[in-house]
Amino acid sequence: MMHDNGGPLLSIRALRTTLATEGGRVTVVDGVDLDVQPGEILGLVGESGSGKSMTLRSILRLIRPPGQVTGQVLWRGRDLVPLREAEMRAIRGREIGMIFQEPMTALNPVLSVGAQILENLAAHTDLGRAARRARAVELLNLVGIPAPAQRVHDFPHQFSGGMRQRAMIAIALASNPTLLLADEPTTALDVTIQDQILKLLQHLRETLGMAVILVTHDLGVVAQSCDRVAVLYAGRVAEYGAVGPVFATPRHAYTLGLLRSVPDARHARQPLRPIAGAPPPPDTVGATCAFMPRCGFATAACAAGRPPLVPAAEGRLSACIHGDRLEATEWAA
Ligand SMILES: Nc1ncnc2c1ncn2[C@@H]1O[C@H](COP(=O)(O)OP(=O)(O)OP(=O)(O)O)[C@@H](O)[C@H]1O
Ligand SMILES: [Mg+2]
Repeated sequence: MMHDNGGPLLSIRALRTTLATEGGRVTVVDGVDLDVQPGEILGLVGESGSGKSMTLRSILRLIRPPGQVTGQVLWRGRDLVPLREAEMRAIRGREIGMIFQEPMTALNPVLSVGAQILENLAAHTDLGRAARRARAVELLNLVGIPAPAQRVHDFPHQFSGGMRQRAMIAIALASNPTLLLADEPTTALDVTIQDQILKLLQHLRETLGMAVILVTHDLGVVAQSCDRVAVLYAGRVAEYGAVGPVFATPRHAYTLGLLRSVPDARHARQPLRPIAGAPPPPDTVGATCAFMPRCGFATAACAAGRPPLVPAAEGRLSACIHGDRLEATEWAA
């Protein structure tokens, strides 16, 4: 069962996801490459619509036909993409847990929160009946639900938004997953609870070796809790590497843009400069760099083709041909 070949836990290559819409087929994940090491917390950031949720859903093959996933998702060396649904079910929720972005739609409204945890414990652990009940209360306590022995009987609608989000985390953790896919798990939570959840994820990483892909809009959360970060733009990885160097000296103009659009504790008086314009809708990117129309560093060379993700400074990968100019040049207003 245990991963022991020393390679990445998860290795995603050329992941491509298309959905059928009324207007035709659209590409929402457009060639994502990512690795997750055992016990690593990988941050996944990018503006709304960049493909973060679709990437997570594609890993677990939670894309309903006629939606289609192609490429490779190597889980402990085994490709999940061609697996039959029955084989996938043995991995989904058990080896790879998921916390969905919208807790109300992911929770079952007619089952108590406790019953939903018990369901997962029964499906994915060897615990007996009494032990499962005790564990369900323990899991609610772990995610900071007050009076868990009573609240375990509540239904999702009796929980606040933040409590539902924490209940989702408790359900996902019930199976002791080796990898947790967490889609905005702390977004509706106040700072204290957010901090508590992030510390919990770090604790589970340290004690159980659980790896996490953490989707968030909050670059501060990434700085605080992630080892590496992948910046997604228009369904592709723009920059990918250790959090320290990527945030200190970004090598993709989009990463720099994101960093400049949020308050920076070190430069409190610096004005915020949101990136002008909006990300392109799926399948509207031509043969240029997808960020080119919004980029202050763009030159004619950026129109030559979508730049590949290649090694850049300090072990990171970047898909920007102007990566080396970013440090020296002022962002064009
Ligand atoms: N059911 C759907 N049908 C058609 N297009 C969709 C569907 N769901 C998502 N998309 C499109 O897929 C792209 C990626 O969406 P995704 O939900 O992965 O973005 P995201 O990065 O998670 O954004 P957010 O930060 O808002 O959660 C977007 O352009 C979105 O409009
Ligand atoms: Mg999303």
